[in-house]
Amino acid sequence: MTSLTASHAADLVAALLFILSLAGLSQHRTARAGVVYGIAGMALALVATIVVAAQSITAGAVALIVLAMALGAAMGLWRARRVEMTQMPELIAVLHSFVGLAAVLVGWNSYLEVEVHGTAQTRIGADLLGIHHAEVFIGIFIGAVTFTGSIVAFLKLSARIKSRPLMLPGKNALNVGALAAFAVLTVWFTISPNLPLMIAVTALALALGWHLVASIGGGDMPVVVSMLNSYSGWAAAAAGFLLDNNLLIVTGALVGSSGAYLSYIMCKAMNRSFLSVIAGGFGIEALTGGGEEQGEHREVRAAEAAEMLAQARSVIITPGYGMAVAQAQHPVAELTRRLRDRGVEVRFGVHPVAGRLPGHMNVLLAEAKVPYDIVLEMDEINDDFADTSVVLVIGANDTVNPAATEDPSSPIAGMPVLRVWEAEQVIVFKRSMASGYAGVQNPLFFRENSSMLFGDAKQSVEEILGVLGLDGGPGAAPAARQTTAAGR
Ligand code: TAP
Repeated sequence: MTSLTASHAADLVAALLFILSLAGLSQHRTARAGVVYGIAGMALALVATIVVAAQSITAGAVALIVLAMALGAAMGLWRARRVEMTQMPELIAVLHSFVGLAAVLVGWNSYLEVEVHGTAQTRIGADLLGIHHAEVFIGIFIGAVTFTGSIVAFLKLSARIKSRPLMLPGKNALNVGALAAFAVLTVWFTISPNLPLMIAVTALALALGWHLVASIGGGDMPVVVSMLNSYSGWAAAAAGFLLDNNLLIVTGALVGSSGAYLSYIMCKAMNRSFLSVIAGGFGIEALTGGGEEQGEHREVRAAEAAEMLAQARSVIITPGYGMAVAQAQHPVAELTRRLRDRGVEVRFGVHPVAGRLPGHMNVLLAEAKVPYDIVLEMDEINDDFADTSVVLVIGANDTVNPAATEDPSSPIAGMPVLRVWEAEQVIVFKRSMASGYAGVQNPLFFRENSSMLFGDAKQSVEEILGVLGLDGGPGAAPAARQTTAAGR
């Protein structure tokens, strides 16, 4: 078998492993196997690519490739070991920006290669030159949009810039104008390729990527991250056409289509228009109110919260990003266990975009060994709040904001939320009156049945555990034991 057919076979096996990987990652039980398939596919693809490349390049160039891979692998391992779960989306955004940048560089390289050598020394036949020019242009465009879009997403997710949407006058016209200009430039470049057009399309796409993501508000960022994931896939596929690499085309298409589908599912879950979000908030006008405080709030201390819980018949816990930051899942699981031991019905309500990753809260609760059957999705539990004694909002904010359903001018209007305010009592665990990720003030905090329990969520739950001391453990305070005894 020649090395080329061996490499084609390796490409095919790697592509199958990537498909198995995606299938595995779609379910909790098979997710680990999915990761292993992905690693195996990528290792095979890298070895096959290097073996084929080694036949047409010098030993020095192979050494450079191996050196670059070793450096990249070392940096990747270092970051992966250090990154916190809450920082994953921003890391993913940075990685998407690399894919976009790589696609831009491949496009430029492919253009310069043809410019310098003509078609004689390249793989491209003279009759396919027009298609090659279009590929170069489209690849650079998608790559550059992905590059700057991902950088803005990174800056927003890591709170280095404000998450509020940028509202330039005529922003929709700007986006549509940029797309029209791209179409005109592509036709022009295909007929008469030249350097100024290359520079123009690169600058145009960089500016469009920046503007598209800057125009999207904080609440829609989960969709943006998965949308950029999709763009990075299409950018890789475009690079695959230019490099004549079938595996890159297949892999890019897999990432592109699965990212687009995930964006679509998220838009449906958040009641957002898919087209509006991928077009940079197209059609959404300036909805920027709601940052200001809206009345008086009531505070409680851990002892009072413990008292409310001791009297409760049923409790629903709605965790959010703050629970992840505080790493409060273990004391929350312990509180759940103790309340259930007392016969209190305890369940969890998980919003589809709570935290900073799809499934973020489910992972934390599973890690703390909270039983699966009491962890319910938003749609499964939303009708039960009205019949609940106490809701504990632990580090959640946007996902329990009534403005989403009651204030049409709110930036998060229309987003489905957990209707916690319908319960008899709501206790909100957070450190201050600060707004959530979307930068919108939360009227829940000023409702008559709401109380704020200020402080780090982990510390607050531990204090409640200490006061409750339901199992007579070492932390049980004497007063609490009396309350508990009376309660029994
Ligand atoms: P957020 O709206 O982000 O609010 C989290 C709250 O946690 C903050 O108000 C903060 O208030 C509090 N907090 C932070 N650290 C804390 C600590 N140590 N102890 C106690 N409280 C703490 O949370 P959410 O309800 O989970 O909503 C998620 C938001 O992120 C949505 O807007 C969503 O669109 C967006 N988002 C989601 C994803 C995915 S895929 N899940 C990805 C990107 C963005 P204090 O500062 O006052 O403590």
